[in-house]
Amino acid sequence: MTKPTPLDEEIKLDPKRSIVSETDAKGKITFANDYFIEISGYSREELIGKPHSIVRHPDMPKVVFKLLWETIKAGKNINAVVKNMAKDGRYYWIFTEFEIRRDNDTQKIIGYHASRKTISKHVIEVIAKLYKKLLEIEKTQGIEASEKYLVEFLKEKGDDIEFADIMEEIHRFY
Ligand SMILES: Cc1cc2nc3c(=O)[nH]c(=O)nc-3n(C[C@H](O)[C@H](O)[C@H](O)COP(=O)(O)O)c2cc1C
Repeated sequence: MTKPTPLDEEIKLDPKRSIVSETDAKGKITFANDYFIEISGYSREELIGKPHSIVRHPDMPKVVFKLLWETIKAGKNINAVVKNMAKDGRYYWIFTEFEIRRDNDTQKIIGYHASRKTISKHVIEVIAKLYKKLLEIEKTQGIEASEKYLVEFLKEKGDDIEFADIMEEIHRFY
């Protein structure tokens, strides 16, 4: 499937509704709620079995997903601010809570769950600026350099701050 061309147009989200999806352990979509379908513009058939990169926006730095995957694969839940792209190229910013799905008997990770909600304009501004910088670094110097920048950014905020805390920290600091 060819990727849509990004449009500089934001989709307004209903603050009362959540965009929910689930994946298997490899990240293939196994469930998408009605609001995901409505906002993304993709049909359920187009989403099921695909990775979430189907809604990936080119403004998102790779390092965010690298750290996201490192965290959830290690069995830790994480929150992250993400900019997604709908099928028609429009974008929407969401606050995403990622949760691990485990087998009740074996406790093995069987997949992941994501629930997404709207986020304040102010947080979007702060994060958009950080992501823009990370993307610039990635394009010119690669992902190791952008990860280093992000680690330094976090260090400036405090000693024990991990990427997993970054979004809450950003709420607290700005
Ligand atoms: C449960 C779950 C939900 C995800 N939701 C999104 C999402 O909404 N948007 C997104 O770009 N990536 C999402 N991802 C991350 C993607 O798996 C992927 O890492 C990302 O789109 C970057 O694509 P790439 O790894 O092919 O570069 C999600 C991953 C999981 C496990």
